[in-house]
Amino acid sequence: MAIAVCPGSFDPVTHGHVDIIKRAAKMFDKVIVAVLVNMEKKPWFTIEERTELLRKATAGIDNVEIIGFNGLLVEFAREHGANVIVKGLRAVSDFEYEFQMALTNSKLNNEIETVFLTTSAENMYLSSSIVKQVGNFGGDISPFVPECVHDEIISRIRQRSEAK
Ligand code: PNS
Repeated sequence: MAIAVCPGSFDPVTHGHVDIIKRAAKMFDKVIVAVLVNMEKKPWFTIEERTELLRKATAGIDNVEIIGFNGLLVEFAREHGANVIVKGLRAVSDFEYEFQMALTNSKLNNEIETVFLTTSAENMYLSSSIVKQVGNFGGDISPFVPECVHDEIISRIRQRSEAK
């Protein structure tokens, strides 16, 4: 069985993430979405919240499982029997960072391949940071996030901005 891991911080999930997960699910028997810690980012949502939002946003896709994990991606992949990592690439600006991660992961475990999917044209500009920034200042985030998790995301963003 071909198992792929779709890793990310998903802080929070966007249409761009769901698009990549859906397309990966067509290519592999099983896709495990790994909600991980990116040490370079300060998350707004806990791993549990991010995992729950992703579960709701991908509920209609049969061969997708969402798991939160605090550790190395290659370790996660090994534990779950996955030898492919799938990541979305938006623009040239993503490339250097993604290339660095792919090479690091292959150095840590050379049996794991990283495959890049080109982001769909309509999601090219989209990121979790955009969602947080627009939501924080009272803007409409509905074009950017799945409808089923919109209210949860916006109330969490408001809660956070009120606490400041
Ligand atoms: O969505 P992101 O923030 O671009 O995803 C980055 C992520 C979470 C996949 C990356 O930071 C990661 O793999 N974190 C787990 C720790 C790890 O394995 N680091 C080594 C790879 S550089």
